[in-house]
Amino acid sequence: MDTMKIFTYVGAVTCFTFLVKVARHIHCYLRPSSLHRSCPPGKDSWALVTGASDGIGLGFAQELCSRGFNVFLHGRNRQKLLRVQEQLKMQWPTSKTKIIVFDATKPTEEMAEIVREVGNVNLTVLINNVGGATGVIATEYLKLEDTTHQQVQDLVSVNAVFLAQLTRELLPILQKNAPSVILNMTSAASNGIPWLCVYGGTKGFVRSFSTALSAEMRAGGHDVEVIGVIVGSVKSPGNDVDEGFFIPSSRIMARSALDRVGCGRSQLWAYWPHRLQGFVFEWMPERLLQLVLIRQVSTLIATRDEKKKRT
Ligand SMILES: NC(=O)c1ccc[n+]([C@@H]2O[C@H](COP(=O)([O-])OP(=O)(O)OC[C@H]3O[C@@H](n4cnc5c(N)ncnc54)[C@H](OP(=O)(O)O)[C@@H]3O)[C@@H](O)[C@H]2O)c1
Repeated sequence: MDTMKIFTYVGAVTCFTFLVKVARHIHCYLRPSSLHRSCPPGKDSWALVTGASDGIGLGFAQELCSRGFNVFLHGRNRQKLLRVQEQLKMQWPTSKTKIIVFDATKPTEEMAEIVREVGNVNLTVLINNVGGATGVIATEYLKLEDTTHQQVQDLVSVNAVFLAQLTRELLPILQKNAPSVILNMTSAASNGIPWLCVYGGTKGFVRSFSTALSAEMRAGGHDVEVIGVIVGSVKSPGNDVDEGFFIPSSRIMARSALDRVGCGRSQLWAYWPHRLQGFVFEWMPERLLQLVLIRQVSTLIATRDEKKKRT
């Protein structure tokens, strides 16, 4: 075979593989969600959303009520949760809600109490949403050496340990009530963004935790879909930015995540413009990517500090 022919075959196979990948990606965003399998008509189905008092968690609670679920609203502030419960009741009178108050910075054995509060209702959806940096340690970008012992503990507890322990506690119930769904909120920061070492590290944990658990469910023959939802910038109390093409509202982010259920992936960028940003992380040479991130985050820090000075 001459060299020209070899190059032609290699080129054809490469193009074919690329096109299949692109088609699979597009299909993921166009196919209808299979979330309805976990909420069959005539059956009272429940979802549990952590960090449901605000931001993306509140968006999930609203979307789930609109899709016929009853919802356990988890948070740390009972008064705020009661207000959310009242709003949901007014908008979706047929959906039931219950409040679970538990501080996610303290994922102790007392978490078993959450399972008792769930009781024996038909829980089929778990949204592990609680987390972030600003809402947990009251600041976002921090050099590792400027981070206190307690801040590291809190970031890891809320973003990783609470998620793993709660999933472990609720998994037998979700397996029993299958088909079930677990969505774990992770972040673009899992790709390694400077001054977000600890937070980004916990989100990397969530990604590999989701993929491994997804495989475990498959190995055990359990119809429990597990997805690590990779999130770019979203407008929320924890990320006070203006909405735009690449920055959806919290409700749209939650809707996008629920719409991806059934796509057969254990990790994905649920909001498609975020997916476009994801390609940058995957394809840009690492050293160049680091330079871009250092510049971008430095500008963000400077703007933040400027804003602080003015207020
Ligand atoms: N927004 C973004 O741009 C973005 C980007 C990537 C990933 N994410 C991820 O998406 C998820 C939601 O983010 P978000 O921006 O919606 O966050 P947020 O606006 O800060 O809201 C976080 C929610 O979690 C609750 N919460 C915080 N600490 C808690 C604790 N110790 N115990 C119990 N509840 C607690 C908050 O309760 P209170 O109402 O009492 O504060 C609130 O309901 C997080 O996992 C975050 O890492 C967000």
